[in-house]
Amino acid sequence: MTDPNITTANSTHKAWLIEHDPHVDTSWINRCIFGGEYIIALCGDSPVGFIRYSWFWGKIPYMDMVYVVPEQRGRGIGRKMFRHWEMLMLAKGGDVLMTSSVVDELEPQAWHRSNGFHEQGRISFGSFQPQSEVFFIKDLSC
Ligand SMILES: CC(C)(COP(=O)(O)OP(=O)(O)OC[C@H]1O[C@@H](n2cnc3c(N)ncnc32)[C@H](O)[C@@H]1OP(=O)(O)O)[C@@H](O)C(=O)NCCC(=O)NCCS
Repeated sequence: MTDPNITTANSTHKAWLIEHDPHVDTSWINRCIFGGEYIIALCGDSPVGFIRYSWFWGKIPYMDMVYVVPEQRGRGIGRKMFRHWEMLMLAKGGDVLMTSSVVDELEPQAWHRSNGFHEQGRISFGSFQPQSEVFFIKDLSC
């Protein structure tokens, strides 16, 4: 496999994002594309992964979702997207990064830790999500 190109997603990636990011509806996907809040990994013209992010308090970059297609996992694509996003957030003035994971999803948590995140606490969302959500931060000033 050639080294993937990491870039900000645009409207030509919309159909792929709708197919591979089912956690949010199409109007939110449109909003994130318009706001430059998707990082996408491309092998040639073919998307193989994405990061979707937002801004907690309008100030702290929050990685809402990271995804690599199953057949391309474990080849460094997730890390490459993360590093691209981290540099982008630094350039935009981010001092701290945030992300989170459902408490029983241990593999993504290990992946977050391998990218320098540290657990900061757990929150329950009542009937919306029975399991707690584990929150992580990465302090870029350290
Ligand atoms: C989590 C995910 C994005 C990781 O992407 P990836 O491209 O497979 O990961 P990478 O190849 O970049 O891994 C980078 C490093 O993390 C490690 N790593 C990867 N997956 C890991 C896991 N499940 N547990 C622990 N470490 C892991 C790799 O060994 C590598 O370390 P190294 O550089 O020291 O060898 C991918 O597995 C995925 O899409 N999972 C399903 C979606 C998901 O769970 N998203 C997170 C929701 S919170």
